[in-house]
Amino acid sequence: MKHWRIDDVAWDRFDPSKVEPELIPLVKAAAMVERNGTDYAIYLSRVFNDDKDFRQAADYWADEEVQHGDALGKWAMLADPAWDYPAAFARYKAGFKLPLDAEASVRGSRTGELIARCMVETGTSSYYSALADATKEPVLQQICRHIAADEFRHFKLFYDHMKRYLARENIGLLNRLRIAVGRIGESEDDELAYAWHCGNDADGVAYEHGRCTADYMSRAMGFYRFRHIERGMGMIFKAVGLPPRGRLSDLSAKAAWRLMQWRRQRLIARLAA
Ligand SMILES: [Fe+2]
Ligand SMILES: [Fe+2]
Repeated sequence: MKHWRIDDVAWDRFDPSKVEPELIPLVKAAAMVERNGTDYAIYLSRVFNDDKDFRQAADYWADEEVQHGDALGKWAMLADPAWDYPAAFARYKAGFKLPLDAEASVRGSRTGELIARCMVETGTSSYYSALADATKEPVLQQICRHIAADEFRHFKLFYDHMKRYLARENIGLLNRLRIAVGRIGESEDDELAYAWHCGNDADGVAYEHGRCTADYMSRAMGFYRFRHIERGMGMIFKAVGLPPRGRLSDLSAKAAWRLMQWRRQRLIARLAA
């Protein structure tokens, strides 16, 4: 059962005078990645082929991710009536392919796969919390709050299954950390950069990974506040099996915050050049 539906959103409260123009391209790009959730469910159903419970949970999960894409896409078409969500997504789907023929997780184990999923849900829950806190437009705020709540629940879903597999597969802490850090680093891979391209570049503009990453990341990073990073760090710690609250988590959150500011400046400089 979904926890909310597109029709539950108070679309009639949309207020164009409160739309922050700098949020529109971020919402368009996010809609691409979210809408692609069904492809990820196909991959997960192959990786967890004999785990009926998990496969069913992954199907529900994918339905929710698709709804995230549709809600964001609908909002972006209100904010920019010239934008065509189905056409932009068709472009994304044609150009970005997940390894749907995988027989096993690209992370080396099922525990690893679930840790990587926890990292993605950590990223999305903090991102939509940050966007909800940043916008004054009531409909976008409501959508982002709904989505963030789903993403926190998704984290818990993958975390619970991960614990089950960890008991069997016994992946060591260092390996779990390596997988987690590796997945976080992938936020600058094609999945997001190409979504930026399909959501925002005019027809005929060539895809350039570096430019799209810099454009997307430098803008997105500007909306985070320290509290979002702090909460996210607690979730990362929990997923890898470290104490989510404490000195190490605090220090890591502060370091991550500084790293993000530094990276943002680097990306802005790259765009200017
Ligand atoms: Fe989502
Ligand atoms: Fe999610």
